[in-house]
Formats: sequence, structure tokens, C-alpha cells
Amino acid sequence: MKKVFVTGATGFIGSHTVVELLEQNFQVVGADNFSNSKPSVIERVKKITNKEFTFVELDLLNRVQLKEVFDHHDFDAIIHFAGLKSVGDSVQRPQDYYYENLGMINNLLSLKKKNTNVIFSSSATVYDSRKNPPYSEEDPLLPINPYGMTKMLGEMIFSDVSKLNDFKTIALRYFNPIGAHSSGLIGEHPSSFPNNLMPYILDVASGSRPVLNIFGNDYPTRDGTGSRDYIHVEDLAKGHVAALTQLDLMDKPFEVFNLGTGQDTTVQELTQAFCKVNEVNVATEFVERRGGDAAVSFAAVEKSQNILNWKAQLSIEEMCKDAWKWQQYLISNES
Ligand code: WQD
Repeated sequence: MKKVFVTGATGFIGSHTVVELLEQNFQVVGADNFSNSKPSVIERVKKITNKEFTFVELDLLNRVQLKEVFDHHDFDAIIHFAGLKSVGDSVQRPQDYYYENLGMINNLLSLKKKNTNVIFSSSATVYDSRKNPPYSEEDPLLPINPYGMTKMLGEMIFSDVSKLNDFKTIALRYFNPIGAHSSGLIGEHPSSFPNNLMPYILDVASGSRPVLNIFGNDYPTRDGTGSRDYIHVEDLAKGHVAALTQLDLMDKPFEVFNLGTGQDTTVQELTQAFCKVNEVNVATEFVERRGGDAAVSFAAVEKSQNILNWKAQLSIEEMCKDAWKWQQYLISNES
């Protein structure tokens, strides 16, 4: 049974990937410092899968703690999710982002066993948004915020080091992950102020915020509001397991794959789909554009489909339904 070390294991994408790994009979050692997640996720992952896994509360910046994990476990692969992840926050405190996100990568590389392969959580925010989408893996990169910069630099670090050592890395560039596990037991649970669209929609739908501010309705899109490639977090988790398989097969030290659907949905379309499928109302108000926003972003998906043999399956409606089901769980269990 292959053994995988998952950093950020109680986070939004990390927890859904741990579920998928357990269901596909991988052995998992998960680690998190709970800076943006809650310990209660651990038991709920075990409840969903009816499987056990090892969990270590760990800060990847603590080299002594991290070395202990690598001394006790012989991993076939590492899936590295942990890191600071807010675009807006990164603009406010860039040094923290560079120190923490790159420091974790360097600790993993210097302490892991030389031949342990890596899957790195990257982001579509690395692409140069001056080019019109779809964004393909060969397109030019131009991150415009420190968060995106740490993802591009992370890819470069893994690429350079993989070439020199006998291990392989796959970087996965996520587009816009939303939704939650169909059980309603795990989902996006930002510890601090939400940054992304779906948590805001959920807050307005559940009455904890009065209105959804739509940042700009004068973009060159179907209805003037910004459009993105939203992907169900369960599809994203499956993409990580598909990448694990590809790690064994690929003959190059470093590869990049998009994880998106190849379809774009505007803010208004997503909000309307959410209201329709959940039979709720979300009041909206058009406000000025948010600085740094691209009008449109969506993935070219051919490489992931042809080489990873992976394709997103779940619809916008399923993303909205599962997100709302999770919000109902949160309201009745965690408030
Ligand atoms: C989506 C759309 C906003 C909030 C995110 C992450 C980034 C990366 C990619 C992983 C935009 C609009 C939003 C609101 C709005 N993920 N919006 N009102 O900016 O594409 O980037 O996904 O690496 O880390 O930040 O996502 O959800 O912030 O915005 O109108 O209250 O929703 O203008 O068009 P974004 P987002």
C-alpha cells in the first residue's frame, strides 16, 4: 500500500484529497498547524471514509518536528498543500508569504528522503492575465501578487531541484475550487475573513451578510460580471490521485498540469445557479471592480485529460448544492 504525506491535510483541498486517498486505499500521514482549519476535520474525514489515518500537528517551518516525521516514515510521495493562500492578504503582508510559503518548500526539500516524489499545490494565478484564456500549461507566467509569486517560485524551486536529484515533481495549477464533499461533513471553512466568492454567497444566503457585492459589471463577458473556471473540490481531489499515478509513469523530473473544467461561469451566473438549485435568495449589488481582477479566466484542459487521464465531472449546480449542504452543517454544528 503506497504511503503519502499530506501537508495542509485539514484544509479545504487537503481534507478532500485525504478522503480520496483513503478511499483509493493509500496509507496517509496528514499534517497541519490548524492556522486555517480545525482539528474537528480529522474525525469527520475518518467518519466519511470509515478508515483510520495518522495525523501530526506540525508547523512545516519547524525543521526539528518535520525531520522527526521523515525519520519515522518512508513515504512514496508528498502532496504539499500547506501555505498562506489569500491573494488580498499577500498584498498586505508579502514578507510573511515569501518567508512561510518558500520556507516550507525548502524545509521539505532539504529534509525529505532524496527519492520521494512530490505533488505541489500551485495556482492559476501564476498565468499572465494579459493573454486571453484558455490558459494552457505552456502559456507565459506573470503573477501580479505575492501569493501567485510564491506559487511560481515554488514551481521553479521544485523544477530545479527535481532535475538534480532522483525524484519527480508534478505541479497542479488550480483554477477556482468551490463546493464541498457530498456528505456535507467537510468543506471550505476559512478561519479568517473570507476572500473568495463562494463563501460570500454562502454568508448572504444564510443571512450572516446582507448583500453580495459584485465587483464590476462592465467586463467584456456575457453579463458584464467577471467569469472564472469553477471546479468542484471533489474533482480537484481526484485530480491529485490521478497525478500520483502519473508520477510513477512520467519520464521527466518536472511536469505541470491545470486542474480546471475548461468552462467559465460569471459571478451572476454562479449566483443565479446557486439560488435556483438551493431555492434561496442572494441579494446582490454591483460595485466597482476589485483591483487586480482579470475579466475572464479558464483552463485549457487537454493536457490533463490526455496525460493525467482525468477530467472534471461535476456541474456548477452540484458545486452549489454541495456548498450549501456544508453551510447548513456548519450552521447547525459549529456555530
Ligand atoms: C472570483 C470572482 C471576483 C468576491 C481565487 C483565489 C486564488 C486562486 C484562484 C487558488 C471574481 C468576484 C468575488 C466577492 C465578487 N485560487 N467576486 N464579489 O480572484 O479568481 O482567485 O481563485 O490558488 O488564490 O483568490 O477568486 O473567488 O476571489 O473571485 O464579485 O465578494 O468573483 O471579482 O470575478 P479569484 P475569487
